[in-house]
Amino acid sequence: MTNPDIHIVGARPNFMKAAPVVERLIARGRPPLIVHTGQHYDAEMSQVFFNELAMKEPDINLGIGSGTHAQQTAALLTALEETFQEHRPGRVVVYGDINSTIAAALVAAKIDIPVAHVEAGLRSFDRTMPEEVNRVVTDVLSDVHFVTSEEGMSNLQREGVSLGHAHFVGNPMIDTLLRFRDTLDSAGARKRHGLPERYAVATLHRPANVDDPATASGLVDALTRVSKHLPILIPLHPRGRRILVEAGLTDVQSIQVVEPLGYLEFMSLVVDAALVLTDSGGIQEETTVSGVPCLTLRDNTERPVTITMGTNVLVGNHPDRIVAAAEEFLSHPPEGTSPPLWDGRAGERIAEILVSFQD
Ligand code: UD1
Repeated sequence: MTNPDIHIVGARPNFMKAAPVVERLIARGRPPLIVHTGQHYDAEMSQVFFNELAMKEPDINLGIGSGTHAQQTAALLTALEETFQEHRPGRVVVYGDINSTIAAALVAAKIDIPVAHVEAGLRSFDRTMPEEVNRVVTDVLSDVHFVTSEEGMSNLQREGVSLGHAHFVGNPMIDTLLRFRDTLDSAGARKRHGLPERYAVATLHRPANVDDPATASGLVDALTRVSKHLPILIPLHPRGRRILVEAGLTDVQSIQVVEPLGYLEFMSLVVDAALVLTDSGGIQEETTVSGVPCLTLRDNTERPVTITMGTNVLVGNHPDRIVAAAEEFLSHPPEGTSPPLWDGRAGERIAEILVSFQD
């Protein structure tokens, strides 16, 4: 039998994708080694998810931390190479599109360790997004592709990936949501944050929205105008905090800015919100499954199924457009449905295929 696989996690959105896969592998008697790169290190950006999702704690934490893309990726490459040389995993499994994902795929490919990519094939077709570069390169380097929605299969095919190595398995992030859905306490979360029955949740962290003061200021203007219709709670990611605060985000009475929330508290608020405004990738999917109206503050999405089937609409970051769309969504909430195979069993499908390689 080959050495255990290594699964790489590094930043907040990885944890809820990896948890169901790891759980099913453990149930099948094939526990992987978990390597946490430490790309996210604040307790509320990382440890809280292991506690809440009851996920196996990392076997190794590389403590990479923050830096420019080059600094962070360089530190990741060096540390991951040592780890892979030492443990010689049968396979390296990477998740999503963060810097830890591309770094692990590159190191493994160079030392001839097969790579499996969970959430392969997503494309925004916007190479100015660091995540898009990470997705494209990771998919080129991967031997196995686990795909969350049908358009991911066509994207891979167009890029020359052999479809014999691509598996449409559904969405493991949605496994986590469905698993915990019954334990969510929306009324309690609302009360804890002093929110009325009708409220909105917003998140902002993309470089395109929070790195430039003029853009950030336009977004604060839009949120301020939307907050005249209903209060907005914003659990604020550390990236962009300074610029958004300077743009006046914390000065608006009907906007409540809080620290990043744990998974259960955050989802409790999202599933019951009248409106979500976000530039996140995962939240577009979570609102789709929950039937919650979602305005995505971007010009493109790598998750078009959330628009064609779900409750998501792209509104970019122009204030008038955001406010008009919010007013429209509040008076005429969109109807949506769950995309195919977003059924809570993606982790099981992925685990079954990974185990078949080890037998
Ligand atoms: C990363 C991912 C992005 C994902 C996001 C979710 C990349 C290229 N981007 O972006 O795809 O949507 O995570 O959260 O990998 N920081 C802290 N505490 C932390 C982590 C970060 O203060 O625990 C600060 C850093 O100092 C830095 C900023 O947040 O200033 C950015 O962190 P980084 O992990 O580099 O990228 P994200 O913007 O979080």
